[in-house]
Amino acid sequence: MKKNQPIGVFDSGLGGLTVLKALMELLPQENTVYFGDSGRAPYGSKSPETVVKYSLQNVRFLLEQHVKMIVIACNTASSRAYDAIRAMTGVPVVEVIGPGAAQAAAATRNGRIGVIGTRSTVESQVYPRTIREQADSVRICQQACPLFVSLAEEGWWDQPVTREIARIYLKPLLDSHIDTLVLGCTHYPLLSRDIISVTGPDVRLVHAGQAVASVVRQQLASLALLNDGSRDGEHQYFTSDSVDQFRTLGSAFLQQPIEQACRIDIEQY
Ligand code: DGL
Repeated sequence: MKKNQPIGVFDSGLGGLTVLKALMELLPQENTVYFGDSGRAPYGSKSPETVVKYSLQNVRFLLEQHVKMIVIACNTASSRAYDAIRAMTGVPVVEVIGPGAAQAAAATRNGRIGVIGTRSTVESQVYPRTIREQADSVRICQQACPLFVSLAEEGWWDQPVTREIARIYLKPLLDSHIDTLVLGCTHYPLLSRDIISVTGPDVRLVHAGQAVASVVRQQLASLALLNDGSRDGEHQYFTSDSVDQFRTLGSAFLQQPIEQACRIDIEQY
């Protein structure tokens, strides 16, 4: 394995760009390959078997790009397919649940943590289990917010309709007096401002992007695989759906232009 091989990152769509952004900020020299499976999103309402199947196809595609590490930039895939992915590949695999859970356990002051995610992630109970490993007496209140993924994929952030939906989804959590809210889906940081407008500034939002980037740095360093070259990394983007939509919304979110993205037929993998 060579240091200048890229890091492979995948998600069901645009959401994983929230993790990629943190990676680019912390590790600017790293080359990356991003795959967003927008053509088959959302993953959060699919069966665990389908999520595993899709995730393994995504990983096969990334391995074909000679990646030195896989980052599962999707909570749903992390909760359902992590073990299957680890069993399939020899490269290190980083998931997003552990870092977010650790941050939430450390952040809460009143011991009441809210978790929002896709139906699949919420049903998997992975967050309550992982948070309680670090802080066993906390109260955890979960809420599935499936519409958030479509709103993010449509670029409907900072919109009244999004805030209204957020108000409905978040009410039970706010009624439980949470002081910390885990954005347990990588699409949700795209809607951060809408979510904060409902929670108010006193609820701490946790999204794992930066913590995941730190884990990536740590793991690459321990394997002597950190790219310590002097040039900025190159970034390649692939999607299973409209390239235009991916580039427009992706560029807005990353705050840098995605010059090129390629559409691939992921079913081949
Ligand atoms: N962004 C993904 C997650 O973190 C998946 C959202 C979806 O496709 O439902 O869960």
